[in-house]
Amino acid sequence: MKILITGGAGYIGSHTCVELLNAGHELVVLDNLSNSKHAAIHRIRELAAGPLEFVKGDIRDTSLVSNLLSQQCQAVIHFAGLKAVGESTQIPADYYETNVSGTLSLARAMDATGVKTIVFSSSATVYGDPSTVPITEDFPLSATNPYGWSKLMVEQILSDLAQADPKLSVTLLRYFNPVGAHPSGRIGEDPNGIPNNLMPYISQVAIGKLPELSVFGNDYPTRDGTGIRDYIHVVDLSLGHLAALNAHHDQAGRYVYNLGTGHGVSVLEMRNAFAKASEREIPYRFAPRRPGDIAACWADPSLANGALNWRAERGLLDMVSDAWKWQSMNPQGYPD
Ligand code: NAD
Ligand code: UFG
Repeated sequence: MKILITGGAGYIGSHTCVELLNAGHELVVLDNLSNSKHAAIHRIRELAAGPLEFVKGDIRDTSLVSNLLSQQCQAVIHFAGLKAVGESTQIPADYYETNVSGTLSLARAMDATGVKTIVFSSSATVYGDPSTVPITEDFPLSATNPYGWSKLMVEQILSDLAQADPKLSVTLLRYFNPVGAHPSGRIGEDPNGIPNNLMPYISQVAIGKLPELSVFGNDYPTRDGTGIRDYIHVVDLSLGHLAALNAHHDQAGRYVYNLGTGHGVSVLEMRNAFAKASEREIPYRFAPRRPGDIAACWADPSLANGALNWRAERGLLDMVSDAWKWQSMNPQGYPD
């Protein structure tokens, strides 16, 4: 099947492209490279044979998107968007413009060209501060920052479109914490500037680019006092998209799934696992809690396990080993 991949040069998109090509799909990648490099496309092609057309462009360009979709595309996987929580509070209009207006542009293009299947990158952030864990898909939804609101708004928009069009298939995938890299070490996460997220921060301490890890809070009501999250290997996450497409392509309706492992890992457990796998020192100090952080968040992935016949299979050792392989083979990230 020919699939339009928006944001396919990015972290999760690039890994998903490899798995889709390996499964025999034909891809058109649309990315404006605002948070990625063209080198990622070369690396995807190196890792997986198969047809991949790359187009540098913006999802808000509805006529460009329509033009690409009209070339026999049958489905869209929609990764393109802005994703930094802190930045979203500084430049909220940019976040709504890219994430919400960008999705509307895509929806208009799908409507114009008769493409009826979309898989959307949502986030566990839509659960806000959950009252209990593990989290199931029917938990109450809320947001505390423009990034989270943009994800909730897009979920609502796509759900309304599915309600209005009896032929549309909308799958909302709520990712927990994607980490790790392709086991080849050729593609991985390449953040701009100082990373906000735990795994790339630890990687850069291990390689010596950053002096120490600040552990945000050691007084949470968790087993070691540090925050707990459901980290999921990016290859497992990518395979979740393939499973969603297999299950719901051309099956009209609106579907929503948690993509997580179902297991929580603390900040200190992650730091210790990474230090062991990399055989590097990872100095750390305790720092105050980061505003907006919650104590613990992990998924109940049983809906996806059953309905999609999908399960996260890679464990913590795979996550840290593969992240370290990517970091040590590409200390400066992708070449320009
Ligand atoms: P990423 O920044 O690596 O990838 C996003 C890609 O979209 C980038 O290549 C960027 O250049 C592109 N892009 C941005 N604006 C665009 C536009 N207007 N037109 C075309 N391309 C555009 O991010 P990622 O980590 O791969 O995340 C992919 C998706 O998953 C995002 O929607 C993100 O919000 C969501 N998500 C990510 C995480 C995470 O922790 N990484 C967690 C939950 C959800
Ligand atoms: N942490 C540190 N030090 C750091 C960075 C993070 O101690 O330098 C801690 C945080 O306090 C938290 C844990 O590591 O306890 C994970 O933090 P991340 O920033 O890696 O991830 P978050 O859970 O805060 O958020 C991520 C994405 C969101 C997404 C969410 C759920 O950034 O966009 O996962 O998918 F919504």
